[in-house]
Amino acid sequence: MPKRNVPEGTAPEPKGRSLSALREAAEDCKRCDLWKHATQTVFGEGPARARIVVVGEQPGDKEDLAGHPFVGPAGQLFDKALDELGIDRRQVYVTNAVKHFKFEQRGKVRLHKSPNPGEQRACRLWLEGELARIKPEVVVCLGAIAARNVLGTKFKLMQQRGQWIELPSGARAIATVHPSFVLRQRDSASREREWRGFVADLSALLD
Ligand code: URA
Repeated sequence: MPKRNVPEGTAPEPKGRSLSALREAAEDCKRCDLWKHATQTVFGEGPARARIVVVGEQPGDKEDLAGHPFVGPAGQLFDKALDELGIDRRQVYVTNAVKHFKFEQRGKVRLHKSPNPGEQRACRLWLEGELARIKPEVVVCLGAIAARNVLGTKFKLMQQRGQWIELPSGARAIATVHPSFVLRQRDSASREREWRGFVADLSALLD
């Protein structure tokens, strides 16, 4: 798709109310500076009528290159949790709070950097647009940034993880740790403990 000439600080208006119109508009988003170094916008993917929407933080290195959410190591761990619970990822809409990869270049490696509050705010209309169009029954937040964007800045992930919270839309939301938090654990005992906690939180989806 050819790049449109979009002024800095803005994004094209979606041409229509559909999810695909929203996705197309987001391709040329310049509402913050993250588009400048990222390869592409990584928009959410999955059925437009999904019952469950999963929200992560932002695309990582692999997602930025592939143009798809949750396809790298964190995504593989997330897929493994869904497998364990018998949930088919193809039935789930998977997206991120921020749609461009933010990183710091260290030699050949691009190290993940957390998006700041201004970048999260600039991106929020895309997530709000996805939720307004899909109207899911359930929203799952992976990690603190996703949780804050969906549940508000007062949300305390480690105290409130695994608990259902009703959103103003009537949907139910639940938050758990980000899969990369599980991957980052130093030893195998901690990794196993955090993995079990992650799957236990997500098992609320089976209720
Ligand atoms: N981490 C996220 O939060 N989202 C992705 O898409 C990949 C890694």
